[in-house]
Amino acid sequence: MSVLVTGGAGYIGSHAVLTLLQKGIDVIVIDDFSNSSLESLERVKKITNRDIKVYKGDVADLRLLNLIFSNHDIHTVIHFAGSKSVGESISKPIHYYNNNVVASLVLINEMMKRGIYNLIFSSSATVYGNSNTMPVTENAPIGMTTNPYGTSKLMIEKILDDVTRANSSFRVTVLRYFNPVGAHFSGEIGEDPNGIPNNLMPYVCQVAIGKYKQVSVYGRDYPTKDGTGVRDYIHVMDLAEGHVAALEHRNEGPNHKVYNLGTGKGYSVLDLLTTFERVTFRSVPYVLSERRPGDIAECWSDPSKAYRELGWKAKRGLEEMVRDAWNWQQKNPNGYIKA
Ligand code: WQD
Repeated sequence: MSVLVTGGAGYIGSHAVLTLLQKGIDVIVIDDFSNSSLESLERVKKITNRDIKVYKGDVADLRLLNLIFSNHDIHTVIHFAGSKSVGESISKPIHYYNNNVVASLVLINEMMKRGIYNLIFSSSATVYGNSNTMPVTENAPIGMTTNPYGTSKLMIEKILDDVTRANSSFRVTVLRYFNPVGAHFSGEIGEDPNGIPNNLMPYVCQVAIGKYKQVSVYGRDYPTKDGTGVRDYIHVMDLAEGHVAALEHRNEGPNHKVYNLGTGKGYSVLDLLTTFERVTFRSVPYVLSERRPGDIAECWSDPSKAYRELGWKAKRGLEEMVRDAWNWQQKNPNGYIKA
């Protein structure tokens, strides 16, 4: 029996594939490599000394899905594949709804036809929007999304809610990520954003390595402890381990479960910058800039439900996130060798 990982060559996907393999789980990957590199999986194979069957292609490709489902005995799908840039989604909404929502619908439909009734879905704290009290629990209202990326995740969550209500045999675990950062401690795999990084940690790493002059701190007038944005940064390896915990508990409890995957701690932009300098002994120049449109002041999780029901909690702190992000950046100044 195998697990199909869609988007398994991506940043979070590759770390999840590594963790699954190290647990002795057989993994099949489908990835279109539009925002990832096959090199990530070559390195995962080297680290784990395990093989991975990789199919290049689109999750929405019915022919390819049927080939995979015919060739492999798959019991669960972990669905990472999708576009994930908030900024890009604002200018390309149709691409996001096609690549995220339509592809997910095709996948769910084919799974049901084939009697593959376990799905773990990669969602995001973005579905909470910006109207919640902190910390955010899974019961917090969702739907106040402010961009097509977040709305696409929300739509897929709604689809999964409806499908599980109509089909008690179809079992779904939704994992809402807070802010994934860091890399496997080996520095062999990590975050390799296309172009100029939108997110804070990869941008800080690229300033520290000399690729960019300084960090623009987006806003110093938020109602937070130091005026800069506060987020719940979570080590990508903790996130990967959360997926294994979800897999191990997939047949327990209700057939539609939702969990926050965060540390439950909020750190400001300035916290991250000072921690980065302390851990790496590198200076990170910054300038205070205007707020970034669509940003919220603060967001951090209450991850206790995942601990109660999955026995999972994040183990790695901000210093380890910074150390591992920097280790990856130093070893791979230009990311993966672009295939
Ligand atoms: C973090 C903080 C910025 C860059 C996004 C997506 C979310 C999820 C994680 C997928 C904020 C500040 C940032 C910079 C800065 N991705 N910042 N200068 O926006 O919280 O979440 O990534 O699920 O869906 O929205 O992450 O890293 O972009 O920003 O000051 O150059 O850093 O204002 O306060 P964000 P981020």
